[in-house]
Amino acid sequence: MSRGADSTRAGELSVRDRPTSPLVLHARRLVLRTMTEHDYEGWFEVRRRSGEWLTKWEPRSADGPHLAEDRRSFIGRCAIRERERQLGVGYGFGLFDGGRFAGEITLSGIQRGPMQSAYVGYWIDHDLAGQGYIPEAVVAILQYAFDYLDLHRIEINIIPRNVASTRVVEKLGMRCEGVAERYLEIDGVWEDHARYAITHEEWVITAPTLVAEWLLPKD
Ligand SMILES: CC(C)(COP(=O)(O)OP(=O)(O)OC[C@H]1O[C@@H](n2cnc3c(N)ncnc32)[C@H](O)[C@@H]1OP(=O)(O)O)[C@@H](O)C(=O)NCCC(=O)NCCS
Repeated sequence: MSRGADSTRAGELSVRDRPTSPLVLHARRLVLRTMTEHDYEGWFEVRRRSGEWLTKWEPRSADGPHLAEDRRSFIGRCAIRERERQLGVGYGFGLFDGGRFAGEITLSGIQRGPMQSAYVGYWIDHDLAGQGYIPEAVVAILQYAFDYLDLHRIEINIIPRNVASTRVVEKLGMRCEGVAERYLEIDGVWEDHARYAITHEEWVITAPTLVAEWLLPKD
């Protein structure tokens, strides 16, 4: 991390990051917070309602099960993410609006050395879709990744027929680098993915607009 804990400047995310407590990022409406077992009920209620709308876009091998949604598996995933955070290789956040669980966003596969890169993945409660929550969360993650973690490149990979997710990266002006064939196994099928990216050089130019549009309070 390039800056100290509890760092806040005008127009920037408020970041609270201490090793023993949740990592919290404040966006315009959303709070992005690492999750614990206490978040299970809210998470499960949304997963139960959103069902197939989510699972058809999620990683799963052809003969593998869908994401386990029982409490024990959830707690296990929280522990894995906490370990990833401590190692600095990934950050998984729950999205909360007014305390209500709304979805998830992850910064994963962080590579240092000459790459300095990571991937972003996300989903939102079906009942909250279409309200710009995920673009807001992505801008918060980009700011954290570039300005606090000093990463150089962020990628988001999307199945081309996922129109809603494509709209998210289009709204943020991310650059499409082409389609990688059979790139990820999604819901049992090796799917082509359009690869969208933004580098630090582009972030420096677009950040003032993106932050004003998605993070700062509206007048
Ligand atoms: C993709 C996704 C994360 C977008 O999140 P979001 O917060 O709804 O994003 P936005 O509000 O910017 O809406 C994006 C697009 O969703 C579509 N959309 C709008 N209202 C919608 C609704 N009620 N239900 C479903 N999709 C809707 C529109 O195409 C919209 O684009 P537009 O604003 O140009 O009309 C969300 O649709 C989702 O969780 N989908 C299922 C999981 C998934 O696809 N994850 C991403 C894998 S790469």
